[in-house]
Amino acid sequence: MKKNLTRKDFLVNASKAAVGVTAVAGVTNLITTATAKGNTKITPWPWPYAELDPEIVRIQAHNYYWNEKDCCSGTFGGISATLATELGEPWTNLPMEIMLFGRGGGVGWGILCGCLNGGAALISLVTPKADSASLISELWGWYTQAELPTEQANQAAIDGKYLVHNFDGDLPQNISGSPLCHASVTEWCIAASKKVGDVERKERCARVTGDVAAKTVELLNAWYKQSFTPTYSDPANVVACLSCHGSAALNNVMTKMDCQPCHGDDPHATQSVELINKSASTFNLSQNYPNPFNPSTRIRFSVPLTEKVRLEVYDIQGKLIKTLVDYDLYQPGSYEVTWDGLDNRGSMVASGIYFAKMHAGKFAQTKKMSLVK
Ligand code: HEC
Ligand code: HEC
Repeated sequence: MKKNLTRKDFLVNASKAAVGVTAVAGVTNLITTATAKGNTKITPWPWPYAELDPEIVRIQAHNYYWNEKDCCSGTFGGISATLATELGEPWTNLPMEIMLFGRGGGVGWGILCGCLNGGAALISLVTPKADSASLISELWGWYTQAELPTEQANQAAIDGKYLVHNFDGDLPQNISGSPLCHASVTEWCIAASKKVGDVERKERCARVTGDVAAKTVELLNAWYKQSFTPTYSDPANVVACLSCHGSAALNNVMTKMDCQPCHGDDPHATQSVELINKSASTFNLSQNYPNPFNPSTRIRFSVPLTEKVRLEVYDIQGKLIKTLVDYDLYQPGSYEVTWDGLDNRGSMVASGIYFAKMHAGKFAQTKKMSLVK
């Protein structure tokens, strides 16, 4: 009768085998397989790596992209299949299809570029945790700042070096500034005047697949030869934002992505609030004036006691458009704030119905406003 191997059996057997081999070889970092049960081979992590030729990997990755593996498995497989040729086991037992989920930034969700996901998975498989973050940051940081596809990628097409020839011409390059698949693909489409479904866009992603696979191997080769030195550091504008948001001061943001494309140039732009009258008998939100308005309107509110006030503009779908007063403490009185028709990102909003909503303690009131251009 076949007995299932328990987790405990596995750990005991694996460590026994590991101890044995360590004693013989006199090394602590095992690049070997241990036998768990019968012929079951267990390969300790990190997996073995061998120096590879980035240009061979580039051609493989490009080829896999076009052969149903797409960007993420294409990048991963371009490297893992080359390692299988060089080293055999365990690489021969790992289907590159494990990374298929990452295509299109995660089955078309456009989140993390699949090439970056595939390259990072490979790095995580062959390097210890202490080293992988700086290698991955180097890869991802390079990607956000590089002209893609690279010159080498375009030249390989012009020289007829790829195995698939759906489009062999030169392709426009762009710097996306972001590790997001969506930003990268859409910005490139705009730069190249192409549609997502065009063969040039697909070939562009195939070349980027080759680029990221080649870059991953370049970094891993340097790491393997113990000559890897990180060059990527967070850009100054990100460091500036994180000095408050990423540190003890606020500690509410965890990202290395450039904040500006999503939050605009001046995320803290606050409206100046004017004191009109030093006393008030009730909580109140007055009708804005002028109304209808274009492009700006004034909104008055009053608080009879010291209270934290929130005053926001919502659109007709209930989406927050603009924060005019952000939980600030107000002394008793009447106040006036001007809404200039800009949203939180600094863009002018369209004509339509908007709602001013005031909250102060348990008090809440809404006024309908109409922007007519
Ligand atoms: C000097 C410290 C400091 C720096 C530097 C800083 N922030 Fe802030 N940020 C704040 C504080 C304080 C708030 C308000 C927090 C709250 O109300 O919870 C805030 C709020 C925000 C908000 C929310 C805005 C809103 O409408 O409530 C965003 C978005 C934001 N910051 C983005 C950024 C970005 C992007 C940068 C870099 C360009 C940046 N911050 C730099 C302190 C800072
Ligand atoms: C890919 C887009 C993106 C990037 C890049 C990004 N953010 Fe955000 N951030 C968002 C979204 C979406 C929210 C959710 C709230 C919203 O809709 O504003 C958010 C929320 C926030 C909030 C809370 C906002 C609030 O209303 O209180 C802060 C603060 C913030 N981000 C700061 C930063 C900082 C600092 C950076 C750069 C280091 C950054 N973000 C990078 C998209 C982004």
